[in-house]
Order: sequence, then C-alpha cells, then structure tokens
Amino acid sequence: MFRTNTCGELRLADAGREVTLAGWVQRVRKMGGMTFVDLRDRYGITQVVFNTEHDSALNDAANHLGREFVIQIRGKVAERTSKNSQLPTGDIEIIADELNILNTSEVPPFTIEDESDGGDDIRMRYRYLDIRRNPVRRNLELRHRMTMEVRRYLDGKGFLEIETPMLIGSTPEGARDFVVPSRMNPGQFYALPQSPQTLKQLLMVSGMDRYFQIVKCFRDEDLRADRQPEFTQIDCEMSFVEQNDIIELFEGMAKHLFKQMLGIEFNEPWQRMTWANAMKYYGSDKPDLRFDMKFVELMDVLKGKGFSVFDNAAYIGGINAKGAAHYTRKQLDALTEFVKKPQIGAKGMVYARVEENGNVKSSVDKFYTQEQLQELRTAMNAEPGDLILILSGDDAMRTRKQLCELRLEVGRQLGLRDKDKFACLWIVDFPMFEWSDEEQRLMAMHHPFTHPKDEDIPLLDTKPEDVRADAYDMVINGVEVGGGSIRIHDSKLQAKMFEILGFTPEKAQAQFGFLMNAFKYGAPPHGGLAYGLDRWVSLFAGLDSIRDCIAFPKNNSGRDVMLDAPAPIDQKQLDELNLEVVLSETK
Ligand code: AMO
Repeated sequence: MFRTNTCGELRLADAGREVTLAGWVQRVRKMGGMTFVDLRDRYGITQVVFNTEHDSALNDAANHLGREFVIQIRGKVAERTSKNSQLPTGDIEIIADELNILNTSEVPPFTIEDESDGGDDIRMRYRYLDIRRNPVRRNLELRHRMTMEVRRYLDGKGFLEIETPMLIGSTPEGARDFVVPSRMNPGQFYALPQSPQTLKQLLMVSGMDRYFQIVKCFRDEDLRADRQPEFTQIDCEMSFVEQNDIIELFEGMAKHLFKQMLGIEFNEPWQRMTWANAMKYYGSDKPDLRFDMKFVELMDVLKGKGFSVFDNAAYIGGINAKGAAHYTRKQLDALTEFVKKPQIGAKGMVYARVEENGNVKSSVDKFYTQEQLQELRTAMNAEPGDLILILSGDDAMRTRKQLCELRLEVGRQLGLRDKDKFACLWIVDFPMFEWSDEEQRLMAMHHPFTHPKDEDIPLLDTKPEDVRADAYDMVINGVEVGGGSIRIHDSKLQAKMFEILGFTPEKAQAQFGFLMNAFKYGAPPHGGLAYGLDRWVSLFAGLDSIRDCIAFPKNNSGRDVMLDAPAPIDQKQLDELNLEVVLSETK
C-alpha cells in the first residue's frame, strides 16, 4: 500500500499503530540527533520525527530533505510530549524508521504556507504551487462542495443536466464574443458562448421542461474583481412557469446553499425591490443592504435658497451616516477627494453635522439659516451625533450613482459591510431597454429574449423606454449573484423586439432565425435564470476577488501568466486556417 493514511487523519486514538504516509515536506527542523518534518498533503499536516542518531542511512536521507520534496515514510504513531492545539493532528507524531524520497524539489519561488511571501504575480505564474496552500485549496474544496449541492438540489427538483456546445455562432448583443476560426470553413468563425441562453430556450421547445448546466461562459469584456473572461454559470431554464415560480425555486436553492455551506438559515422570504426603488434609494441595481443609509431626495429642502450649486442641480440627495459626526475635517476632505476621483466624477460634497445640542453645522452655513438646516435635519431624520453627506448634479442618474459610491465607502469606513453578514434580495421589474450612447439606439437591458411585463406591452409602440420587463436579479451584499427572466415565446413578439432594437428583419433572421423558426413549432411559455458560480463561492469564502476561487484564473489584462496565453500561433497553423495577421497601427 502506498499510504495507509493521509496527513490529516491520525489522532491520539491511533497511537501505537504502524502507518505509511506520503506527502510534501513543508518544513524541516533539526534538533540534536532528531529531525522534525512537517509532512503535508491535501488533508492536513502531520509531524514526522526521524531519530537519526543511531541510524546513519536514515540520517543521510533526512539530511537531504528540502522544502517541497515528495516523500513516503513508514513509522509508528506516538503521543507528542509538546502538543500543538492549532493542528487537528497536533496530539501525535510519527516516529519514522523508513524514509523514501519519491521526488526532489527546487526551492519554491515563495513560501507555501497560509501566509505566503509571494506577490500576486509570482503566485499566479506558479499557480500549481499556490494551490498547495490551504487558503487556495480550501476555496476549491468549497467550490466542489457547492457544485455537488447544486446538482443534488436541482436533481431533486426534476432538472436534467444537459450539455450545450462550446462552438456556436456569434450573437453580438451583450458583451463582445471570443471567436474561434474554422479550418474546414475558411474565413468563418465560431464564437464561444457568452451563455447558453438561446440553446436552453431551444431545449424548452424540445420539451425538456427543466434544464440546468454548470457551464463555462466566455465574455470579452473589461475585467474587474468580480469578472473573468471565462467564468462559470449555474444555468437553468424551466417551462410552464411564471416569474414567481422561478424566484421561489431559486431562492430555495440559494437558502439550501447557505445552510449546507455556512450553516446559516433564512426563515423569511427575501425582499423584492423594484429596479426603480433600488435606483431611487440606493443609486444602484445591486444595493448592499447590509446597512440602511437610504438616499433622501433634498430638492425641496435645499434648492432655491441662494446656493448656486444646489440651485442649478437636477438632483440633490443626501445620506445620513448615523453616529459619524466625529468625522474630522481631514476625513471629510478625504471623502470629498474620493467622490471627485475621475471614476466617480462628482464635483464636490457638502456635509452637515448634527451637534450634541441639536444644532446643525454644515459646510454651506453661509447659504442657509439654522432654521433651514433644521429642515434638512428633519428630512434626513438625523439625531445629535449624525453626519449628513450631500451630493448634487445636473444629471439625476449620474448623481445617484455617485452617491451610491459614497454610501458604500462610508459604509465600509464605518464597518457596516461585515463579510460574515449576508443581505439578500431580488431586484425586479427591470426596464426592458436602456439607451446606448455608443450605439445610438435602445439596447436590451437583460437580453432581447426577455418578456416585457404584460401590462406594458402597449407601450412598446409608444414609449419603449418606459417598458418594464419580467426580469430579475438576485443581489447579495451588493454583488449581482444571478439574474434571469421570463422569455418571449411568441415569434411575432420576438420579431417586434428585434425591430425596436434596430435589427432589420433580414439581420434578425440571419442572427436569430434558428430561434424564431423554432418558436413556430409550439414553444411553451418558459423562463429561467443563471447564477454566477464564481461570485457565489467568493461570497461564501469571504474573498475580495473571484480569481481566488478559480483554479487557473486570468489576470486583470485577461492573460494566463502561467500558460503565457494568449500568444501568437505558428505560421503553419495560420496557413491551415487561411488566416493572415495584420496588426493595425493602434494596437
Ligand atoms: P447574466 O449576463 O446576468 O445572464 O449572467 C448571469 C450571472 O453570471 C455572472 N456573471 C459573471 N461572473 C463572472 N465573470 C463575468 N464576466 C460574469 N458575467 C456574468 C453574474 C450574473 O448574474 N443568460 C442569462 C441568464 C438568464 O437570463 O437565464 C445571463 O447570462 O453573477
């Protein structure tokens, strides 16, 4: 037997047993005639002791051990004299009488311990070594357990896991596609799926009724902490359902995951907030509700009193940072600088402190009487010790987004965004369309297959920008962890949607003809949702970036620094593909 036990398994009850272990050398310490080795594998660390004083062969071998050598040892389990309560195996050690070096190792480029001395870049380059470290390994284990639970839950609800192809046609709505040239069809390209959206809808036409897939999706978009160019969705679709059926079933799945992964139980249904209210009160379609700090519109209270910045504003909004009146001038200046950063783009920030005696002292005192400031205080429901922060601007939506960033930053500074706390909600009633300045046309906010709300269908002809959709997102702690919609199953309505989106009938037919044709053959009412698996795992693991729960992620420029990809390909490959590379000047 190669090994009788793993390195995380043995306990005091095993004392006296003869065992064989195999693993990596984490540390070697020599003390007199003894050599101590921390032996590591995926399951844990076990201390191994070589009494080398009277055994020259063993002494020889032990002397050659270095970090990350792969060894096999045989010996007897013994109770330790100095126990280590930090380790599950800390009550025992193995007194080894045989050592077999299975492989040597160069000195690793960073220490393979929980706290590593390796920077991000080097750890990514040697990701296979990074994965030996507990924190990374634990995230991958959590990910595995989550996908097992997802499969168990959905199987129990009658879902079938069906694979859909990775080489499909390009559908330019949404993000940019990654494309793959076809050798057998010169000059033609496949695209990697941004999601299996149309395919899962076709499976509903096929009568599969309940589909799911844990599936890789590819999007060529700018990267952020919660975005990777390839990521994994838990993708689902159901027939003969209404929005509420989907929300209930997938809220059930989310609660199941919370319980199984973190032991957290939610007994109440999660809040459902309309998109309009989310924008009004939090300036975001993914509000972090771990803390309240709702926006209060202050146009009536502050406009028209002689302070030109506010007098000219299209929106004035405030937040009440409860108990934060202690903020110093320096801290307030730093917050002002924060909102003025180009990524946020506010022109400035006004603040007002409520003093212990109830007086309001603000940065715009010279424009407002104490009486007017008391009106502000009432509007903001502020008490002594509170700090009111106000932004204004000539574009209401943009200003709300700026106020959202300020709210999140203040929430962070006040310690209100605790990673162990979870605030879960649904955002519903998304607008069907949004205006794209870049494209100079309406774009689908979710995707072009989303069903408008029945009562808003008449507006499609008159005021499409006011049409709301049967679309919903699940948001946890300010992260969009999933989203979906009821789909259009009527080919005429689908054709109309493409028309509003600026597709000519020919273009719609060329790109989505397969779907519209399928809809002619008895498409059932259907809808679905996709969860972002990477975001769920990182939320459960308390990670700042989804990168850390992906075995081999890309860096912020979309590169795999370990594989050194993307990279040029051989001329021979290019010839076979009938491709010529011509780099434009700007690249
Ligand atoms: P959507 O585009 O909202 O919907 O994606 C669903 C969920 O996938 C996750 N996600 C990502 N995670 C990591 N990196 C990315 N680049 C990335 N992009 C999206 C998010 C998001 O909520 N076909 C529809 C779903 C449907 O309607 O059924 C879709 O793809 O958590």
